[in-house]
Amino acid sequence: MCGIIGILGKRPVAPLLVDGLKRLEYRGYDSAGIATLEKGRLVRLRAGGRLARLEEKLHNHPLYGHSGIGHTRWATHGAPTERNAHPHMTDKVAVVHNGIIENFAELRAELAAFGYRFSSDTDTEIVAHLVTNAMENGLAPAAAVRQTLARLRGAFALAFIFTGEEDLLIAARKGPPLAIGRGEGEVYIGSDAIALAPFTNRVTYMEDGDCAVLSRSHIIIYDEAGKEVARAETVSTGSSFLVSKGNHRHFMQKEMFEQPEIVSHSLAHYLDLGGKTVKKAEQVIDWRRVERLSCTACGTAYYATLVAKYWFENLARLPVENDFASEFRYREPPLPAGTLSLFVSQSGETADTLASLRYCRAQGVKTAALVNVAESTMAREADIFLPTLAGVEIGVASTKAFTAQLSVLAALAIEAGRQRGLLDKKQESALIGALAELPRYLNEALKLEKQIKAVCHDLMAAKHVLYLGRGTAWPLALEGALKLKELSYIHAEAYAAGELKHGPIALVDETMPVIVIAPHDRWFEKTVSNMQEVAARGARLILITDKKGAAACSLKTQATVIMPDQPEIAAPIAYAVPMQLIAYHTALWLGTDVDQPRNLAKSVTVE
Ligand code: M6R
Repeated sequence: MCGIIGILGKRPVAPLLVDGLKRLEYRGYDSAGIATLEKGRLVRLRAGGRLARLEEKLHNHPLYGHSGIGHTRWATHGAPTERNAHPHMTDKVAVVHNGIIENFAELRAELAAFGYRFSSDTDTEIVAHLVTNAMENGLAPAAAVRQTLARLRGAFALAFIFTGEEDLLIAARKGPPLAIGRGEGEVYIGSDAIALAPFTNRVTYMEDGDCAVLSRSHIIIYDEAGKEVARAETVSTGSSFLVSKGNHRHFMQKEMFEQPEIVSHSLAHYLDLGGKTVKKAEQVIDWRRVERLSCTACGTAYYATLVAKYWFENLARLPVENDFASEFRYREPPLPAGTLSLFVSQSGETADTLASLRYCRAQGVKTAALVNVAESTMAREADIFLPTLAGVEIGVASTKAFTAQLSVLAALAIEAGRQRGLLDKKQESALIGALAELPRYLNEALKLEKQIKAVCHDLMAAKHVLYLGRGTAWPLALEGALKLKELSYIHAEAYAAGELKHGPIALVDETMPVIVIAPHDRWFEKTVSNMQEVAARGARLILITDKKGAAACSLKTQATVIMPDQPEIAAPIAYAVPMQLIAYHTALWLGTDVDQPRNLAKSVTVE
């Protein structure tokens, strides 16, 4: 989950490396560093904390080299200090790394026995020493890297530059992604094409196991077996402009307010909203042949699949299984014939989800990836790519990607229901008509911001918060609790409201805010009964409902947030907004970093 970049340039590369790192900061922001070659000598500058600190240092101590590598870190081994910041180097080589070297302790002990000394706690530093050791034994840089790669276990993307080698950059990938860019007399590598967008749109994606030896005029790629291979060059669509916050205070706020538009775009890709049918070109799955849908994802994307379970089971009578990717990949479940494996991911790079996808492919099961980044590894490796059109999401807390995922999943469930003969024309049009109204519901939900901000003023003093919901509101409760935890660092738990009495109700007292998500739907009355149970124990209720729900609930609440009335299929999408606003405003009252919360990274490319 770190971001790496490398450049062989015609000009000083330090400002370019920093520019690329700014685009990669979403992958981690614990520390940053760059190394360049000046008159054949390796020089580096590193700083703990955000990239801005490295920029300040560079301002006072500019680096002038024309070749270099850079890194923005999400700490795995060792604290997020300057000492552990990348690049790591010896007198021969500098290296940046994304991923984890699993056998690093054993390799470190071996190198220590040879007399190598370590100046960091990272797993990465052993890579620099292994390459150095191989070079001291007479190997040229490329051979030294190859010998080193053969000794590493784990997942890694690596980039190297070498003392005295002004026209050499070596990159290797096993797991996390790496892209190579070709410019006019310059060559680049980066963790993704967005990092390379200011320099070039001619991009080659390295495949798993590849090692690339680059000079300004040649790109040579070897596969895992050491055979020279040709990898296709594509024209990337990644914007060269850094996405800005516009008039918003945070990316997260901007992204929440983009939801009416992006949901509309995502729906319009799959549905003919005027004609109220599924678009012919998007009927890429034969749902009559699918006997079982296996959904795998992490975090917020996982909660999107939990909502989808209700939709597919209800509208298409299709059995659905949901798994956290981190469990699925090691459980190695049997996958009966007739299974369609669906992977949902904003980034398309999440290590566990990707590994699960590869497991399913290896089992010969049909795979579909519902992904926001079209150039991502999942989008490229799955049999079927289902795009969400949320645009670049920068805020670490996923907002618009979630509602885009839900919108596409709803469209797919309707299509599945239609193909499987569960929905007639009239029902299909009614459901699509309901989804077509979503931009309006989302806009109205966003107008609740002022009221929600006031509610959050009380919430910020809480040590623990409970979220409750039934049916599709249960995954929404889970998503609300996740958002609150990651942004405000307040402990939050979500329960299916009916589960509460089986244990967690013991937590409830008059200090406990309980946020209940309860549109006036088929589950409403049951949820109100569960609200009674917590109210009887003194809990402070915050009810998110609609007009009918507010009128039907006679319980005293601390606050009742009234959402627009809407059909059942639209509610889980629109009700995501109050979940996001609650987390956002509680975090603002507490003064935490909304776009870059502590300990997190946007793209989780380590397991
Ligand atoms: O890129 P992905 O959708 O695969 O990421 C999955 C999770 O890491 C992500 O949803 C995470 O939970 C978010 N920070 C939640 O806001």
